[in-house]
Amino acid sequence: MMRLSVAVLLSLALPLCLAAEVDTDTGLIKAPGWETVRAHCGGCHSHALVTQQRADRQSWLDAIRWMQQTQNLWQFPADVEAQMLDYLASNYPPQPNRRRAPIPASLMPRASAPD
Ligand code: HEC
Repeated sequence: MMRLSVAVLLSLALPLCLAAEVDTDTGLIKAPGWETVRAHCGGCHSHALVTQQRADRQSWLDAIRWMQQTQNLWQFPADVEAQMLDYLASNYPPQPNRRRAPIPASLMPRASAPD
């Protein structure tokens, strides 16, 4: 009985341990490289602009290049840039199905008749 409840508790706790920890100040997922992104990506806009974005590595790089060319974002040493791209691409990867499905017509408010 004791063994069983320990096993149950462990199995309940495990997903919590595996879930990504999020920095409460910035909302950034705490994974390797997050402090570099915190240092470089929150000066001009909220980190939320970063955490709301989903993109592959190339698109993250494109975003950085765009900010460098048009928004006065500074240049990064290659290793710093690579670290941020690794972090961004693995923690905020593309998610094609982030949009919810359309609301079924039966659940929509009835169209009101024009006056
Ligand atoms: C020098 C200022 C500056 C810094 C530093 C900066 N950005 Fe930006 N970024 C901007 C501006 C300006 C915009 C446009 C904001 C807007 O549209 O309201 C922007 C927009 C974005 C967007 C939204 C792009 C879109 O298509 O909507 C993302 C994502 C982003 N930045 C990520 C980052 C990341 C990642 C970093 C760190 C590598 C970073 N930013 C650092 C200036 C900066």
